[in-house]
Amino acid sequence: MKPTRRNVLRSGLGVAAMIGFPEIRGYSHSEIDERMKLEKGLNGLTKADLTTPVLILDLDLLEANIARMSQHAKAAKINLRPHGKTHKCPEIAHRQVKAGAIGLCVATIREAEGMAAAGVKGLLITSELVGKPKIERLVKLTRKAPDTMSAIDSLAHAQQMSDAAVAAKINFNVMLDIDPIGRRTGVPAGETAIALAEKIVKLPNLKLRGIHGYSGASSHVTGFEARHAHSMKVMTPLIETFTRLKKMGLPVEIMSGGSTGTYNIDTELEGMTELQVGSYVFMDVDYRAIGSKGGVIYDDFAPSLTVMATVISKSHSDRATTDAGIKAFSTDKAKFTPEIKGITGVTMSYGGDEHGILVFNNPGRDLNIGDRVEFIVPHCDPNVNLYDRIYCVRGEKVVDVWRTVGRYGD
Ligand SMILES: Cc1ncc(COP(=O)(O)O)c(C=O)c1O
Repeated sequence: MKPTRRNVLRSGLGVAAMIGFPEIRGYSHSEIDERMKLEKGLNGLTKADLTTPVLILDLDLLEANIARMSQHAKAAKINLRPHGKTHKCPEIAHRQVKAGAIGLCVATIREAEGMAAAGVKGLLITSELVGKPKIERLVKLTRKAPDTMSAIDSLAHAQQMSDAAVAAKINFNVMLDIDPIGRRTGVPAGETAIALAEKIVKLPNLKLRGIHGYSGASSHVTGFEARHAHSMKVMTPLIETFTRLKKMGLPVEIMSGGSTGTYNIDTELEGMTELQVGSYVFMDVDYRAIGSKGGVIYDDFAPSLTVMATVISKSHSDRATTDAGIKAFSTDKAKFTPEIKGITGVTMSYGGDEHGILVFNNPGRDLNIGDRVEFIVPHCDPNVNLYDRIYCVRGEKVVDVWRTVGRYGD
């Protein structure tokens, strides 16, 4: 590197000697909360005014994603009950419903309570709420939101639910959880599922509404054709079971499943009544890598969610360090690291709990201390769970702050 004034300033020693240190602004969350109580609210605030690391949501992209999924469902004449585990955010749930969704799936009783408190209706809890404490919470929730549904995959659990519903003098809406392939929850399709359904309908105060069957194993199969074949193969036995239950006269009306990766595949399954797509609202690095109908990047939906970080160290010409490390990102997808948005030739790796290492390989632009950078997250659902709020932007402007609900820390 030539010892020009600019390069000296940009080296570690130069920065230390720098007279005009770059201005780094940053309101804390509580300062922003205070500001929002005043008349000026968020007026005039830009992304540069936020303290990093921070979760950023591009509303234009979010709205386009919601509209696209909604148009797809309308055209395919299928209901949408999107999965709220992705966003944990009532504001987003309300927008999905406004665009035509008939309700919201949630994964936990906490999420269900948070969403119901915010007025979201038509909840389907896609996990088994086993044991007295959770069932008691479900009783309370069902009194407030009687259309709530939850999953069952064993007679023991069904009996427990029935006993609680009888004691509370309410009805529980239940969905028979059938396992397409994942061996996570759910009984196998066919005879086992039918035998359990027949027993469930005989139990007092349980209303069997339909089948829940989620194939997480299909959602991330790389390549559209392979994904198509996978989903068709594993979901067909569920549809057949659903058809048989209906023919037997059981009161099942809902066949729910699907994912962002298979949204345009599962609509081909005749008999599927609703999709429980989640990640499409945000997208993430993992999903972008599965490929679409037309290319290697899955870009049917745009990456609307990012973590914004600040460059805090630039002691070497070929790298820089940010303030967003392991604690700012969900690291469950070891194969995928955060992907810098809008700059080519820069890769990121974790430099510790609070540090991210950016390595330059002919970067599209230079990065220096104080610069803000945004990253598409490896896996959106658990990443959101790390943050209690999402800063909503239009372009550079911060226009809203939305809270997440039902996190483990809440
Ligand atoms: C039960 C269930 N349904 C639906 C989804 C939504 O899947 P995706 O985020 O891939 O759209 C998930 C996600 O993990 C899930 O666990």
